[in-house]
Amino acid sequence: MKEFYTPKFPHLVSPLRIGKLTLRSRMASAPMGFPDITEDGCITRDMTAFYEHRAKGGASIVTVSEGVVHWATGKSHARLINMQNPGVLASLTNTARAIRRHGAAASIELNHGGMYADMDVLEAERGGEKFKYGPSDMTLPDGTRVRKMPRELIAEVVDSFGKAAALARRAGFDMVMIHGAHGWLLGQFLSPALNRRTDKYGGSLENRARLSIEVIGAVRAAVGADFPIEFRMSGGARDAQKCGTADAVGFAKLIEGKIDLLHVSCGFGEDDFSSTHPPMFVPHGVNVHLAAAIRASVSVPVATVGALNDPAQMEDIIASGKADIVCMARALLADPELPKKVANNREDEIIRCLRCFTCHAERMLTQTRVCSLNPVIGREYEARFEVVRSGATKRVLVAGGGPGGLTAALTAARRGHAVTLCEASGALGGAITAEEGIDFKRESLEYIRTMERLLLRSGVNIRLHARVTPELVREFCPDALIVAVGAEPVIPEIPGIDGRSVIIANDMPRRRAEITGRVAVIGGGLVGCESAVYLAREGYAVTIIEAEGELARDANPRHRPMLLELLRENAKILVNTRAEEIGETVIITKTGESIPADTVIIAVGQRPRFAAAEALRNIIPETAFVGDCVAARTIREATFRGYHAALDL
Ligand SMILES: Cc1cc2nc3c(=O)[nH]c(=O)nc-3n(C[C@H](O)[C@H](O)[C@H](O)COP(=O)(O)O)c2cc1C
Repeated sequence: MKEFYTPKFPHLVSPLRIGKLTLRSRMASAPMGFPDITEDGCITRDMTAFYEHRAKGGASIVTVSEGVVHWATGKSHARLINMQNPGVLASLTNTARAIRRHGAAASIELNHGGMYADMDVLEAERGGEKFKYGPSDMTLPDGTRVRKMPRELIAEVVDSFGKAAALARRAGFDMVMIHGAHGWLLGQFLSPALNRRTDKYGGSLENRARLSIEVIGAVRAAVGADFPIEFRMSGGARDAQKCGTADAVGFAKLIEGKIDLLHVSCGFGEDDFSSTHPPMFVPHGVNVHLAAAIRASVSVPVATVGALNDPAQMEDIIASGKADIVCMARALLADPELPKKVANNREDEIIRCLRCFTCHAERMLTQTRVCSLNPVIGREYEARFEVVRSGATKRVLVAGGGPGGLTAALTAARRGHAVTLCEASGALGGAITAEEGIDFKRESLEYIRTMERLLLRSGVNIRLHARVTPELVREFCPDALIVAVGAEPVIPEIPGIDGRSVIIANDMPRRRAEITGRVAVIGGGLVGCESAVYLAREGYAVTIIEAEGELARDANPRHRPMLLELLRENAKILVNTRAEEIGETVIITKTGESIPADTVIIAVGQRPRFAAAEALRNIIPETAFVGDCVAARTIREATFRGYHAALDL
């Protein structure tokens, strides 16, 4: 007899009614903005597809962001949605439709940047004098002057929130989100540290909350009683003076009767980026306690956000009443289908976000949208979200089981090809296997295990301890060969490198028990720095030795500052220092200094396995080279190229 469906995560998949709107589950897509917006503030076709992807993946709400309500004074970043441009309506409408046609509720975040706005326009208008509007007169650390927002401008901004919400409703959105979190204008007025006004907008909590309450009032008047309003607030911040939890609870009580959903995030301003976007170094759900504290004091439904991607944890958050909705941003880049997989009891197929910050870093560096693990991100429109089946079935041999080889094998199998993946070592994962045991890297290992499961379920024949040689290729005679044989560690020629206490970083998992006493890490790139942080947090006295003047130059600009902060707190750092010799218990530097070291970890880089890769060239006409064997780079480069090599078959 056919078995009926029993959801493994009944709370997560249960609907939630907000006014007349029924949300299909408790899993929502948090606001994520990317610069893929026209100069006059319209959403591009590609950006619409980005949001549609999340809706198709099963999210219950997809929040588009950021809609700037007052273009002249409130634009926080270079490319945002201009809610005052009448020409934006069609792109808003198309985006709302793209989200709704997959059964998700379409929402849009409305914001004003306040004193952190990018004020190029005003700067030009005022003859070069650079200033922004905030609650009070002040000067920012970069010298930018902040002017106290005059009452007339406050009224204009409040009005513009209402008009923007009306436009969103007209465009077909199901709800709106007012952005009162992360230290933008509404948060600045609420902050006792920044708001020094003596008028009705400053002083007591009621006064500091007044701007938010007026904005909610204007939005409500514009959209009507039956249209859900979500308010995004910070429940706390690293600097409690700027945003304290007790104040946040009081504020929540003031607004709860005027809104339909309270969204509790964390953090205040750019300096507090790591509170808003919890990095890999902190546990999942670190901000849930803020939502729980607020939920205990209000009766309106509460949403929580921040490093959530584990279905069991999210189920518990809902079941135990800490929040009513869980929101995810980065998790739905790595796997937009996460909510659908949860609903289908396929949670073991979820590709979990690594919190590597490639998404944020590339937004900043190249104004593009990418994810290390999801090659479709940034190409949603042209890729149509899915892998197209091939007309012919080819026998495909993939050499190498790192991220590039795994992605190529899975994609080829999903296209209907017959795939065999050979890995020379005894385990899949390539360079990632070196991260085994490092607590904050466990998601990388999880990724490999998930890929292995997906490969097996897609019918890929996996062979371990199988080195692909030219003879093997000739014998196997595939229609196509994908070479992904990876890289190997560089071993510096230092006297003493062969000593018993010297461990190559890649071998750390295997030789973990041999690490004793004082540890010196030679090589201050990303791998060396992460190894140093891990060992220091395990209780070892760690010194990191780098020949160049800077550490972690290969880390992206979002991950790097957090990594360096942890290093400074936990390890001794020696830059411009070259190790000349490794002794029994010391490292001798070029300048003759002795650094105590009972164990030495070598992390001076990876070198592509060119020779092994080149040996496989020109045997099979259809041969592609992917990943670290081409150039030792990031996991993103490997997965992206592996995916496309399989699409090219
Ligand atoms: C690429 C990216 C863009 C984001 N853009 C916005 C935005 O426009 N507005 C906003 O309020 N939050 C934005 N966020 C913050 C997220 O909504 C969310 O609060 C944060 O990423 C923490 O959730 P997560 O751990 O699930 O990523 C963005 C986050 C990411 C990763």
